[in-house]
Amino acid sequence: MSILVTGGAGFIGSHTCVELLNAGYDVVVVDNFANSCPEVLNRIKKITGRDLKFYEADLCDPDSLDIVFKENTIGAVIHFAGLKAVGESVLNPLKYYSQNLGMTINLCRKMAEYKVGKIVSSSSATVYGAPEKCPVTEDVPVGHANCPYGETKIIIEKILADVLLSKGLESVIVLRYFNPIGAHESGMLGEAPNGVPENLLPYLTQVAVGKRQFLSVFGNDYPTHDGTGVRDYIHVVDLAKAHIKAVERAYKADGIEYYNLGTGIGYSVLDIVKAYEKATGKKIPYKIMDRRPGDVAESYADPSRAEKNLGWKAQFDLERMCRDADRWQTMNPDGYASVN
Ligand code: UD1
Repeated sequence: MSILVTGGAGFIGSHTCVELLNAGYDVVVVDNFANSCPEVLNRIKKITGRDLKFYEADLCDPDSLDIVFKENTIGAVIHFAGLKAVGESVLNPLKYYSQNLGMTINLCRKMAEYKVGKIVSSSSATVYGAPEKCPVTEDVPVGHANCPYGETKIIIEKILADVLLSKGLESVIVLRYFNPIGAHESGMLGEAPNGVPENLLPYLTQVAVGKRQFLSVFGNDYPTHDGTGVRDYIHVVDLAKAHIKAVERAYKADGIEYYNLGTGIGYSVLDIVKAYEKATGKKIPYKIMDRRPGDVAESYADPSRAEKNLGWKAQFDLERMCRDADRWQTMNPDGYASVN
């Protein structure tokens, strides 16, 4: 029995493949390299010393997905595949609704057809919208996301719950990520965004290696300890490990369960700048700019349900996250294109 990983060449997907292979699972990856590249797969194999099966396929195409299910015995699916650029989703909402929802619908159909009942699905803290209080527990009602990308995460959660009710699935584990950062400690896997990074850490690491002049800090007049936005940053390897626990849980449980994945600690943008400087000895020039539309003042998790039910807790601290992110960016200044 293999674990099917959709979007396994992406940032979180690739780190999860490493943890799955290290834990002894056989892995089948489906990816269309929309926001990743084949070199990622070579690196997963180098790090783990194990092979995996790969299909270059688009989940929007049911026929190419059919071959994957026909040729493999799949025990459970971890579903990462999807578009995730907030800004692009505002400019092109139909692309996001059609692709993110279409992929999930096709996947659910194939799972039902081939009687694969267990799925672990990537979701996001964005489903809480502007949370009424922090730390955020899973019982906080799902709100309005700030963009079409976020809305697709809310709708995907709903689709999975409805398919489960109709008995098209047996167990669904929804993982709501807070802010994944860091990189594999080998420096071989990390975050490689296309174009100008939208998220804080990839932008900051590019400033650190001299690819960008300064960091724009989006607002310093929020009601937080230093006025800059507060988030719950979590090491991507901790996040990847949570997926192994979630797969184990999916095998045992039935029904749908939701888990917040964060450390439970909120750091401001300026906390991150200082921690990065301390961890790496590099100076990060920054400028205070206007707030970014759609941003909330603070968002951090109560991750205690994941600890109780999954036996999972984040291990890596902020210094480690910064050091690993910096090592990745230094070794791969142009992301995976650096090798070519
Ligand atoms: C963002 C998305 C969210 C998505 C998540 C995925 C928005 C509004 N939200 O979350 O929907 O699920 O990424 O990882 O885009 N910041 C700066 N300068 C920068 C970049 C960011 O000051 O160049 C600040 C932001 O204002 C925020 C914090 O850093 O306070 C984190 O921003 P970011 O990394 O983009 O994550 P989120 O906004 O939390």
